[in-house]
Amino acid sequence: MEPSILRLESPATDVIIRCQPYAEILYWGPHLHSFNAEDIQTLNRAVPHGRLDVDVPLTLAAELGHGLFGSPSVEGHRDGKDWSPVFVTTQIEHKNNQLTIIGEDDIAGLRLTSELNLDSASGVLSLRNSLTNLGCENYWLDRLALTLPVNETADEVMAFHGRWVKEFQPHRVTLQHGSYQQENRRGRSSHEYFPGMVLGCHGYSEQQGKVWGIHLGWSGNHRLRADVKTDGRRLLQAEALYLPGEVSLAEGESQSTPWLYASHSNHGLNGMSQQLHRFVRQHIVHFPQPKARPVHLNTWEGIYFDHNPQYIMSMARQAADLGVERFIIDDGWFQGRNHDRAALGDWYLDEKKYPNGLQPVIQQVKDLGMEFGIWVEPEMVNPNSDLYRAHPDWLLALPGYQQPTGRWQYVLDLQNPAVFDYLLARMDWLLGEHDIDYVKWDMNREIVQPGHQGRAGSTGQAEALYRLLDTLQLHHPHVEFESCASGGGRIDYEILKRTHRFWPSDNNDALERQKIQRGMSYFFPPEVMGSHIGGKLCHTTYRQHNIAFRGLTALFGHMGVELDPVKESSEEQRGFARYIALHKSLRPLLHSGNVVRLDSHDPTTLLHGVVSESQDQALLIVSQLAMPTWSLPGQLRMPYLRPEARYRVSLLDVPELISVEQGGHTMKVLPPWMIQPIEANGEWLAQVGLALPVLDPESAILIKFEQL
Ligand code: DGJ
Repeated sequence: MEPSILRLESPATDVIIRCQPYAEILYWGPHLHSFNAEDIQTLNRAVPHGRLDVDVPLTLAAELGHGLFGSPSVEGHRDGKDWSPVFVTTQIEHKNNQLTIIGEDDIAGLRLTSELNLDSASGVLSLRNSLTNLGCENYWLDRLALTLPVNETADEVMAFHGRWVKEFQPHRVTLQHGSYQQENRRGRSSHEYFPGMVLGCHGYSEQQGKVWGIHLGWSGNHRLRADVKTDGRRLLQAEALYLPGEVSLAEGESQSTPWLYASHSNHGLNGMSQQLHRFVRQHIVHFPQPKARPVHLNTWEGIYFDHNPQYIMSMARQAADLGVERFIIDDGWFQGRNHDRAALGDWYLDEKKYPNGLQPVIQQVKDLGMEFGIWVEPEMVNPNSDLYRAHPDWLLALPGYQQPTGRWQYVLDLQNPAVFDYLLARMDWLLGEHDIDYVKWDMNREIVQPGHQGRAGSTGQAEALYRLLDTLQLHHPHVEFESCASGGGRIDYEILKRTHRFWPSDNNDALERQKIQRGMSYFFPPEVMGSHIGGKLCHTTYRQHNIAFRGLTALFGHMGVELDPVKESSEEQRGFARYIALHKSLRPLLHSGNVVRLDSHDPTTLLHGVVSESQDQALLIVSQLAMPTWSLPGQLRMPYLRPEARYRVSLLDVPELISVEQGGHTMKVLPPWMIQPIEANGEWLAQVGLALPVLDPESAILIKFEQL
């Protein structure tokens, strides 16, 4: 093999890299059964008229100095000089599927280190660039990105937009010329632009097509773009976005990009997601104990700030009766926290509310056989708090400017050692003095003018947060953490390395959750996606849904309930208990299987499922989001079963509303398999299908496929 051509290979995906003049990805696609380095000759490019006289490589550094005329991976300068580096490989380390390529520019005095790891089990490629200043004067780094070439037939971007209570909304953009770029400057991964993007060949769907997906594991500002160069080459580029002057490297200092995770699939978005889920399960999320994900009850939507330990204990008793396994006290337990305008920062127990301490409540929860969890929001401070009155200078802010508040709060400067130590001490007190198993770590405002000692400190703030969480985990290794930021404002793989669950949205409306959870499922497996059954009247939308639709929607994540169980009617309580029990019976499959999103010819119907690794079992939820477009919904074709195997098909959960005797619904006769389970071959179910019922809008059914 030509020494500068290296291959990383896995059963799903191969990556072929030319290491000279610097790391250039020549191929990122399906596994090649045979590979001869000499075949690389087929890729030697033409040099067109009217352009530079040489071939221009598209390396991981995308250097302008090669004549690329695009967005380079490195932008910076040394007092106006050394601004256009061109790297030449000086060292290559290659072991198994891990490759490190080091390049230097002697003139600019810079070293670039590119790390590429291909995970054999999933085919997910992890990449990182690090820049080191070899000169004696400071190097001001404005941008450090990763640039990944993608097949020139890819012309359709899928990216995500969103907002508070409407996260993870995918949209598509046809990309024939120019760029599509998303920039997030909100100081956290953001509700608005999840740091993930897919570029694929026109018309790719859940089940079909070629896609190349990326996710930047970073909880701060970011920039993601997809480009079609004027020579037709396509690329994806991702970076943490630096504010002016934010990164300055003294001699010998380095700065790294966050890890970029890349997944290619020839089998549509499902293939991409399954690979990413496998990767997350093996390499990103680390549960302290390998146990089933406990069903939650979180008090927020039940009692808000109204904490009374006696009442909370009655909620815990009721929760245990319903089958809840982890009871979490949300916001409102600490000194003076009676509403959202005061007390953030004062991490001492409110003794007026809890005169006997937290212990009696914790004990009660434990005696009932449940784990105990608590809410915190350490990065924030209310101006109306003892902490702010004592330390008004602890803010992440620029002196002389009036910071706008967000939810009546400011952000603390975690890079200030006094702030870091205070928060660590208070969290150590909370977790050390109490028998706490779980922390819901919230973050309820965006970061404006993140000033640390007068300079931009957005990147440092995110890194300090990681350090704080890492230190707490070291001190309290048994505790699990949830990442919540007004719902889905901080969801990414880097925060997931030190947390165990997300709260995807403050929107608990089952209809909206169907779409939010589907969006999140492109990158995250169900066991890290908190999905709670809320009250009948949703507190964010004022829509009302029956318990079946709420229960089935919450089933396909890490389940919980988000209400006051004491106040609920016995009919509702029966519903909670039913869906909790159903979830418990199904979670071994739900939390280990492959997620499948089926293409649906009717946009009002969502088809979502989980198939066991051995394909002997599958669950599928058919969710009717709005009035069906046609009077007959057609056949469900389920392609992820073994073609040669025979399956029993049964209805696991059917809303009581589907009753032909009742008026107001759309069927006189149900498809017979809904009444009596049937048997069919996998191939038949994939190619021919199962007649679907006519469902009412905002309802769902749950189907099980079991190999005989
Ligand atoms: C925002 C979170 O998303 C909610 O679940 C809840 O914890 C509130 N904050 C509490 O203030």
